[in-house]
Amino acid sequence: MKIIMLGAPGAGKGTQAQQISAKYDIPQISTGDIFRANIKNNTELGAKAKVYMDAGDLVPDDLVIDLVADRITWDDCKDGYILDGFPRSIPQAEALDEILRSREDKVDYVLDIDVPDENIIHRMGGRRACPNCGATYHIEFNPPKVEGVCDNCGGELILRDDDKPETVKERLTVYHDQTQPLIDYYEKEDILESVDGTKEIDDVFNQIVEILGE
Ligand code: AP5
Ligand code: MG
Ligand code: ZN
Repeated sequence: MKIIMLGAPGAGKGTQAQQISAKYDIPQISTGDIFRANIKNNTELGAKAKVYMDAGDLVPDDLVIDLVADRITWDDCKDGYILDGFPRSIPQAEALDEILRSREDKVDYVLDIDVPDENIIHRMGGRRACPNCGATYHIEFNPPKVEGVCDNCGGELILRDDDKPETVKERLTVYHDQTQPLIDYYEKEDILESVDGTKEIDDVFNQIVEILGE
């Protein structure tokens, strides 16, 4: 099963992708997490990506597309995968279509997690992330068992650099300009499923399971 998670920054793509990954046993591929890991490891890709990420802008398509094209050929992807944060522009979606077509493959579901901008700012301020394993928490809505410590791996939780309110506003603008058009794009391909992301985390997941099947 191959799934794309669409949605504004902070809509809950990562939170849901982790649960989907656990239930259906397919990997979560988060381009944002891959870039953050590169930044942490001081790679050349990380240095390039950081400039854009800190400004709330998209990393240029050519840096993202090859990376994903390669990642989905890994062994753990043979039964499917969840693309979390890719594609997020029309050129990226077209490139993905082209790559999959050349492999006689296709995406099965595009899940659009719908959350209005008003809810987003509040969510981002309370988010805590594990730079080690990619798990995401919220101090109010989804707290870790021990404050500041990841339930999964014991890693120390951090505030993401791009969660400052000014940067979140810019990310929302970029989302509306460049990523939201993908809703129409996938609606035309007839694989778009919309999910109400304003509900509680478990309710959102239940809606997703309804779509994907048990
Ligand atoms: P990325 O890491 O993908 O960030 P994003 O898309 O902005 O989305 P987030 O990860 O911020 O939010 P999310 O939807 O995963 O929400 P989460 O589950 O954490 O990308 C970062 C940057 O990398 C981009 O700005 C760009 O520069 C670059 N980049 C990445 N991919 C790229 C690409 N393909 N092309 C170009 N550039 C790219 O939830 C948010 C918070 O809300 C958490 O605290 C969570 O606990 C809480 N929460 C979740 N669900 C609920 C709920 N139902 N109710 C209450 N709280 C909830
Ligand atoms: Mg995320
Ligand atoms: Zn962790």
